[in-house]
Amino acid sequence: MTGKSLPAPVKVNLGERSHSIYIGENLLTQLSTLIDENIQDVSSCVFISSSPIYDLYGENLLDQLSKYKTGKIIVPDGEAAKSWKIAEQLLGQYIDHDLDRKSLIIALGGGSVGDLAGFTASIYLRGIRLVQIPTTLLGQVDSGIGGKTAVNHLKGKNLIGTFHQPSLVVCDTAVIKSLKTRDLHAGLAEVVKYGVISDESIINLLENKRKKILKADKFLLNEIVKKCVMLKAKLVEKDENDSKGKRAILNYGHTIGHCLETLSNHEINHGEAISIGMIVASKIAENLGYLKYNDLERQRNLLKSYYLPTETPKIDNHQLLNIIKRDKKAVSNIINFILPTGIGKSPILKPVPENLILKALEE
Ligand SMILES: NC(=O)c1ccc[n+]([C@@H]2O[C@H](COP(=O)([O-])OP(=O)(O)OC[C@H]3O[C@@H](n4cnc5c(N)ncnc54)[C@H](O)[C@@H]3O)[C@@H](O)[C@H]2O)c1
Ligand SMILES: [Zn+2]
Repeated sequence: MTGKSLPAPVKVNLGERSHSIYIGENLLTQLSTLIDENIQDVSSCVFISSSPIYDLYGENLLDQLSKYKTGKIIVPDGEAAKSWKIAEQLLGQYIDHDLDRKSLIIALGGGSVGDLAGFTASIYLRGIRLVQIPTTLLGQVDSGIGGKTAVNHLKGKNLIGTFHQPSLVVCDTAVIKSLKTRDLHAGLAEVVKYGVISDESIINLLENKRKKILKADKFLLNEIVKKCVMLKAKLVEKDENDSKGKRAILNYGHTIGHCLETLSNHEINHGEAISIGMIVASKIAENLGYLKYNDLERQRNLLKSYYLPTETPKIDNHQLLNIIKRDKKAVSNIINFILPTGIGKSPILKPVPENLILKALEE
């Protein structure tokens, strides 16, 4: 026991899949207590991480859990982790580590590690428990929350995946300090997304406290992570499996974004891709009369001020359309877009004809 009290968590109420999300600075020093208080009857714990992240934070955490049988498995860093081949190798390592139905997979990393670890935890022995420790801003505000898991297929991103809720999520905002600036900026793209789709106060905060946020100010990061997690938790509670249209608004910017990631072979990272994707969706919304030009400009200026790209790169737009059609958001070849209707206002899901998509891409 560390003797420190734990902060009140954000609860995700999903019946027997209910769990807590803890947000705070230096929470990782209390990982053992957090597991004790939230997860019963654990036989062994295995950390899944990539070298750069494990080197920074892994060993201390492994020592902290020494009362359990522990292990670590290192996977490739970044998007390269999210492949069928790596997932298969990882499952083999679970067998080698003798993981059983009471074992705990602990994902220590950004969205890439989290999505891979979550996917394999969901299918190993038909599903074992998972702790998400998202270490990027993007992971803390988005990918670590909500139970979506995935690996990529050569033909498209996240095409293979499951829903598997974690048993516990720990967002230690202190670890954001060690992120490369490019990864901090990428996370802020998802933060802009939350602001546009449901809370203008997030946009105001990003506009007014830019300098401090870019320096990863701990108070502001705590506030930002909390706001985003609470918004996402509510949407997940209403529509856990993304089938009722409520959770879909989180895909704002992602229709084009996912294609840009795939087409650029992940040279453009997830946050950068959705930054461009949000602007394309906003242009479509503006062309259709749903969004005021000023609200498009406000987003573009904000994204630029956080060093995020807003221009569509030179690509074959027809190839991009073909990839969009394979994306999960296209049903029976009809391409649906989440279109913003204002800043902090509920967006709408609309089918968009190909010529309008091409127009927005070329503008
Ligand atoms: N499951 C979901 O709901 C969901 C939601 C959004 C995004 N995603 C997925 O998340 C992925 C992107 O995640 P990401 O942006 O976290 O990128 P990432 O996981 O690829 O990490 C980016 C880089 O940050 C480094 N890093 C991570 N934590 C660090 C730390 N604390 N200090 C220093 N370096 C650190 C990693 O080593 C890596 O090089 C995409 O594959 C995307 O599809 C999933
Ligand atoms: Zn995203």
